[in-house]
Amino acid sequence: MQPRVLPSEDGKDSSQRTQSRVFPARILKFLTLFVVLGFGFFVFSVYMTRYFDLQTIGFQARPVIKPCIEEEQSDLRRWIKPPRSLMHKMSEEELFWRASFVPQVKKYPFKRVPKVAFMFLTKGPLPLFPLWEKFFKGHEELYSIYIHSLPDYQPNFPPSSVFYNRQIPSKVAEWGKMNMCDAERRLLANALLDLSNEWFVLLSESCIPLYNFSIIYQYLMRSRYSFVGSFDDPGPYGRGRYNLRMAPEIDITQWRKGAQWFEVNRKLAIDIVRDTKYYPKFKEFCKPSCYVDEHYFPTMLTIESPHLIANRTLTWVDWSRGGAHPATFGKGDITEAFLKKIFEGKSCLYNDQPSSVCFLFARKFAPSAMAPLLQFAPSLLGFE
Ligand SMILES: *[C@@H]1O[C@H](CO)[C@@H](O)[C@H](O)[C@H]1NC(C)=O
Ligand SMILES: *[C@@H]1O[C@H](CO)[C@@H](O)[C@H](O)[C@H]1NC(C)=O
Repeated sequence: MQPRVLPSEDGKDSSQRTQSRVFPARILKFLTLFVVLGFGFFVFSVYMTRYFDLQTIGFQARPVIKPCIEEEQSDLRRWIKPPRSLMHKMSEEELFWRASFVPQVKKYPFKRVPKVAFMFLTKGPLPLFPLWEKFFKGHEELYSIYIHSLPDYQPNFPPSSVFYNRQIPSKVAEWGKMNMCDAERRLLANALLDLSNEWFVLLSESCIPLYNFSIIYQYLMRSRYSFVGSFDDPGPYGRGRYNLRMAPEIDITQWRKGAQWFEVNRKLAIDIVRDTKYYPKFKEFCKPSCYVDEHYFPTMLTIESPHLIANRTLTWVDWSRGGAHPATFGKGDITEAFLKKIFEGKSCLYNDQPSSVCFLFARKFAPSAMAPLLQFAPSLLGFE
């Protein structure tokens, strides 16, 4: 018995049966052709889609993205250009690591114009900014500005101001606490990201410049030493604040005191940012009434690089009125006689030679001092 091939064809003759066998073979051929064509079309369309997608991206991207990418990846500028925006998403740990990069080949393969980084550590506004604007005018290639203010402060400098968009990511900083030193290190680290910055000047909102830009620039650039106040005070406000548990990293004979406001070169700025040896000791054992911002950098730098610091700051301040804070000068204080007194009768060592130019900056000046300061700037401070 022959098994039934097509039950529906049951009872039909052999020719019909033969036809019915031929018919599916044709369908099969036809279907195969259809599948092959379909597959071919599929491959073709995938290819075309990719091709046109690439074309589209290419057409859109070429004028906008491509030149930037090519330039950035093939040119030395990629490594020497300062970041376009001061705001970034780096963590503190990432920032300090990045800031501590130092080229090992000492000769720069390009013309490096050294700049001064003016770092303003403020609560919020910079009331004396019109004086500073005049001071900076015309020296755009030789300085950069960084502002660390309280994190909730919203600056409102106009785009034409030298202070516009110069804020760095900030955190709370309180007088006498480690977070004050953290803010100073944060300023240094952000300023270090610009390879052109060679000097780092810490200022507050109450500081003023005492000379014009050219004089201050030359004074710093020609100096053999960084300017950090550092002295050994045997009394209760000096060695009295030392804690024995800081040993062996810090011995009492190495304990130093000095004003917070410093002017340091790039080497010392990096030393301060990369420090992990002294930082934990100060953080743990120098809390009020040990005012850490008066001791950490002077002590650390005296231990590590005594031969690189002048042991004096360039920021003048008046402690003669006594008390925990220096004198603040307002509108009524600013006279020709007062300003002349700041310059006169000073003597110090500059590059190991006696000098009468000992201070480049002064504090503390109230917002009301602005008008008389602007009035005396051309004749006494050397800029207008
Ligand atoms: C600063 O003081 C240290 C000692 O604390 C000393 O070794 C160094 O020579 C002083 N620097 C200058 C420029 O006199
Ligand atoms: C800066 O001040 C000095 C001395 O007062 C003066 O000789 C010089 O011309 C001033 N420079 C500018 C650019 O005003």
